Amino acid sequence: MTKVLIDCDPGIDDALALALAAGTSLPLAGITTVGGNVGLGLTTANALALREFLDLGDVPVVAGCSGAIIRGPIDAAEVHGTSGIGDVVLPPATRPVHEGHAVDFIIETLKASPGEITLVATGPLTNIALAVRREPRVAEWVRDFVIMGGSYTRGNTNPAAEFNILTDPEAAAIVFGAGWTVTMVGLDVTLQALVTAPILDEMRGLGRLSELLVPACQYYGVVTADGGPALHDAVALAHVLDPSLLTLTPAAVDVETAGVHTAGMTVVDFRLRGRSPNALVATGVDVAGFWKLMLGAYRRLGERLG
Ligand code: RIB
Ligand code: CA
Repeated sequence: MTKVLIDCDPGIDDALALALAAGTSLPLAGITTVGGNVGLGLTTANALALREFLDLGDVPVVAGCSGAIIRGPIDAAEVHGTSGIGDVVLPPATRPVHEGHAVDFIIETLKASPGEITLVATGPLTNIALAVRREPRVAEWVRDFVIMGGSYTRGNTNPAAEFNILTDPEAAAIVFGAGWTVTMVGLDVTLQALVTAPILDEMRGLGRLSELLVPACQYYGVVTADGGPALHDAVALAHVLDPSLLTLTPAAVDVETAGVHTAGMTVVDFRLRGRSPNALVATGVDVAGFWKLMLGAYRRLGERLG
């Protein structure tokens, strides 16, 4: 199983992705945080609390950039709550954040283990962009690079743009132009990973873990018999655990940074038109297989946490 460095903005679906990592005992090289769903102070506090609540061991939690490279802040507190994890109250962390900045941590961690670590970004791409700008060899050192972000069909924060990309389009443009192949897990597939009522029922009865999963999902969206909130970030991490879950299609991806109405749009060209692909874009997902992986991981973690 590959070692993973997760850059995230917890965030309800980030939290449930971390729970997937915990339930599968995915080896983590680090958790770096970025401002996004809520401010950096809260995303970092949530990551620290989740590290202990989810029994993630002594994986370093390292804070990164609080805002976008150029643009002013936006957040998603209206979706994730002012705390970032809905109305869930976790026991406060007892162990501190790792010293230093996430950008340097990402560079040094990948440099120390070239070809061994998969980088997964589930928030705005500011830390990643500054890492590849500061050290372009980061794009060579990663084993793989996977993001939850973008789409080739529609936005969510507005008709054109998905939140992670829209929060820092300039960072996303740097990331897609860094010379690596970005595995882009966008809304096109993540919006199929819905926590429906039957799925939510499977999250009950898992002891302490249910105290996170159930209220977090209920806060994240209205759960019905065949609808509910999408666990966007967990789909991206699930790909690392089981690459058979997603269908990936090569594409040339550009990020709009100048559009009045389209800034943050990922412009995905599957025809390439003579260009080399800079991305593998998720165009299909095995929804049943995804939930089998997720619920199996949550059951194991629930037993472990008691
Ligand atoms: O658009 C969904 C993405 O934006 C997810 O990563 C969610 O956590 C928010 O950051
Ligand atoms: Ca996120």
